[in-house]
Amino acid sequence: MRTKYCGNLTVSDIDKKVTLCGWVDRKRNFGNFIFIDLRDCTGIIQIFFHSKKDEIFQDALKLKNEFCIQISGIVKKRKKNHQNLSMYTGNIEIHATNLNIINISQILPLDINNINEEKVRLKYRYLDLRRSTMFKNLKIRHKIVQYIRKFLNKKKFIDIETPVLVKLTPEGAKNYLVSSRIHQKKYYALSQSPQIFKQLFMIAGIDKYYQIARCFRDEDLRSDRQPEFTQIDIEAAFIDEIYIKQLTESIVKMLWKNFLNYEINTIPCITFQESMKKYGSDKPDLRNPIILHNIKKFIHVNQYNKSVNNEKIVAIIIPQGILKFTQENINDLNQMIKKYNILYHFYIYVKNIYDNQYDIKISDIFFQKKIITNIIHKINSHNNDIILIISGRKEIIYQLFQIIKNYIAKKLDLIKKNNWKPIWITDFPMFQKNQDNSFTTTHHPFTAPKNFDIRHIKNNNLNSIIANSYDLVINGYEIGGGSVRIHDVKIQKMIFEILNISTEKKEDPFHFFINALKYGTPPHAGIALGLDRLVMLLTNNNNIKDVIAFPKTNTSTCLMTGAPSYLIN
Ligand code: AMO
Repeated sequence: MRTKYCGNLTVSDIDKKVTLCGWVDRKRNFGNFIFIDLRDCTGIIQIFFHSKKDEIFQDALKLKNEFCIQISGIVKKRKKNHQNLSMYTGNIEIHATNLNIINISQILPLDINNINEEKVRLKYRYLDLRRSTMFKNLKIRHKIVQYIRKFLNKKKFIDIETPVLVKLTPEGAKNYLVSSRIHQKKYYALSQSPQIFKQLFMIAGIDKYYQIARCFRDEDLRSDRQPEFTQIDIEAAFIDEIYIKQLTESIVKMLWKNFLNYEINTIPCITFQESMKKYGSDKPDLRNPIILHNIKKFIHVNQYNKSVNNEKIVAIIIPQGILKFTQENINDLNQMIKKYNILYHFYIYVKNIYDNQYDIKISDIFFQKKIITNIIHKINSHNNDIILIISGRKEIIYQLFQIIKNYIAKKLDLIKKNNWKPIWITDFPMFQKNQDNSFTTTHHPFTAPKNFDIRHIKNNNLNSIIANSYDLVINGYEIGGGSVRIHDVKIQKMIFEILNISTEKKEDPFHFFINALKYGTPPHAGIALGLDRLVMLLTNNNNIKDVIAFPKTNTSTCLMTGAPSYLIN
């Protein structure tokens, strides 16, 4: 139906006859002549209907935005003063000779050249995808997948699919269930990740596996979480965590170089404990320089009037706060702090660090002068800094700190654009204790413990067991997570026992897996990278919905099709 695409036309096509297909992006009627912008998947070109006497002029009058048309004409250079340099094809236009209205269009419920409400965008996603930015995101996503496949293929990884309809197992997030027509009253679970299957590939001797895998999890959603998402899933045998980390780093460096022309250097690595202490989070955004200073060690608890034995005392520096923060900013911070149940907070205004001159905006807490002086020096503050001191329970301090540091960074404009700060977080605790005193694994039950010692289990000292796992975090987003796996059936059984998961009986969910481990399982390790999150960062978006063709709302609804729905009998 066409000889050329709109966005590909150049001055080399001048005087050629072309046929184009697409949609009317804009129409301008000047009485004696009409311009339309014709849009297809490659871009936009201006079409010129220049004579009222032409038969097609009457048809051109009927054109409205988003009509689907076929047009033939001659490519002409635009006059100098009519050129539009902001458009790729802005120095040429088509003088129309034929017009075929393929399909008319109703007025769109959204403005494809503007920002629209999310509700409308998701309901009419097929129209939202007509917006060039959205199509561009999908094209980049496609290209990123191509680059990753090429990279892994070259390293001799084999792309193999694993089942999506799987057996319901007790670990991880909540599963989506699928009923079976043949097996009445029985259900499949939709796979949360190919974890077990990729480990079985290693037992099978496949050695290096990858898959761009669809995963399904019924969990609370947020800007970087969807109920169905895509992983770049990787596993290899006879290797260690260093191999997987280096491989992942090479993928990330290759992507950032090719898609953002950005060189990522060595990626630092810190433990979970260090990350929590310094950043109050296991997903630190290293672009934000505001960190937590633990100052309890500088204070003797009995020197002031509140019991703080079980509390944390932290200092947060607002750099040059005396000069840059207004009273309104301090009021904002106080409002944020008020929402959390903390013990106390106060501010120290560092006027002159050399003369130990400072003001304390303090409530009823008494800190000796020498303690304050010590704190100011030990945390390396500078003249004109404001130091915020907070005391409270660890978990609360960590949560509150995320809000405070984002506020300070925003007000002081501390986060630079096009700045990428990846970091590895390792040594996560193997287990988390639940409210009912039972345990779950921090990563998943197949992760090898680093310091596994039977004595830990005997003493019930599970908190000290460290997992041989690693998360890659970029600018505050968890981009990937993986671990070295257990290949010793005895250890795997013990872990299941701690988790209260029975494996003895044939019907037990992991019975088959325990069996599989008995057949000469090789050491193996792997990782899964969140493709949606990677594409989100590489396209400079801050919501994965913008890089997924048909995403769900934050309540897991598809506004376009109405899924989920009741069963129709
Ligand atoms: P994990 O559960 O950490 O590990 O997932 C790996 C990566 O997948 C991405 N991700 C998500 N992206 C969008 N929406 C979600 N709901 C979502 N959940 C996770 C994140 C995350 O880092 N089988 C293990 C991997 C392994 O051990 O090899 C796993 O699934 O970027």
